[in-house]
Amino acid sequence: MAGIGYGKAILFGEHFVVYGMPGIAASIELNTTCTYEEKVSGGITANDLVTGETINYGEDKAKKLDQVIQVILRETGIKEKNFRLKLETNMSLMGGMGSSAALGVSILRCLNKEFSLGIDDKRINEITFEVEKVFHSSPSGIDNTVSTFGGMLWFKKGQKNTVEQLGIPEPVRIVLIDTGTINDTAELIAKVRKQKEENQKEFEKIFASYSELALKARKEVENARWEKVGSLMNKNQELLRRIGVSSSQLEKIIEASLESGALGAKLTGAGVGGNAIALTPEKELQEKVSKKCSALGFKTFKVTAGIKP
Ligand code: PMV
Repeated sequence: MAGIGYGKAILFGEHFVVYGMPGIAASIELNTTCTYEEKVSGGITANDLVTGETINYGEDKAKKLDQVIQVILRETGIKEKNFRLKLETNMSLMGGMGSSAALGVSILRCLNKEFSLGIDDKRINEITFEVEKVFHSSPSGIDNTVSTFGGMLWFKKGQKNTVEQLGIPEPVRIVLIDTGTINDTAELIAKVRKQKEENQKEFEKIFASYSELALKARKEVENARWEKVGSLMNKNQELLRRIGVSSSQLEKIIEASLESGALGAKLTGAGVGGNAIALTPEKELQEKVSKKCSALGFKTFKVTAGIKP
């Protein structure tokens, strides 16, 4: 039996959510599928559906995958060890699409069916948060929440997280553009924290600007006023630049997207490498932005944001 975990795109608030400010994130069609294979030696095999190749996670990530399985077996109480999980993905890995959360959700949904665990989405979200901690040490919880519940979400970390569905009429077209450079979320969270400690006054100002921007963004998203949303995404990108998580590759992509008519463009996820998001509600516009970025040598993904799993 198979389980699916969806990827996500952050429209507003990466890094700011770590400090308890609200963010807006949406699930996308790109996903990871986990299939259960019984009576074979334990472990995980993973295939990249885009390249058709077996994914080599490298020693460090392979160790983390082992830890993830331990966390999942512990939290679900599964004693059976004689099985293998086959993962297949069409997402950028370590690229700001929430691949680690999608991995956790796909495994849990698969095992939930296979062992008739009867665990609900709330629990899947909680356990995937534990999985996220294995990969990213101090995540906000936004990725696991979007991957579990889907839709267009307003998320705010707290004693108890605030999670609200923003009712949009239909998922909105976007382009995700991959810089081709992977990012390490834990490292980047640590980098921002260090910058914040060293530039307290500047960060206070940036945080205040972001908090105001997030409230405006919520209103515009809820009313599907995409031109306004796009212009606020551009402002969010300015703030992300100031906290030091943009890069020349991301800026090149953002510039090309805006020149091609995208309503807004910014990095999405932890930044520095990974993906940028361009807001392109019309099909032709999505095509145009994608073509332009492909011509510059970047891999692009034409998807919709806000799908319900
Ligand atoms: O792991 P990524 O690249 O999808 O980034 C997630 C967003 C961050 O705010 C940078 C981290 C977090 O846990 O919120």
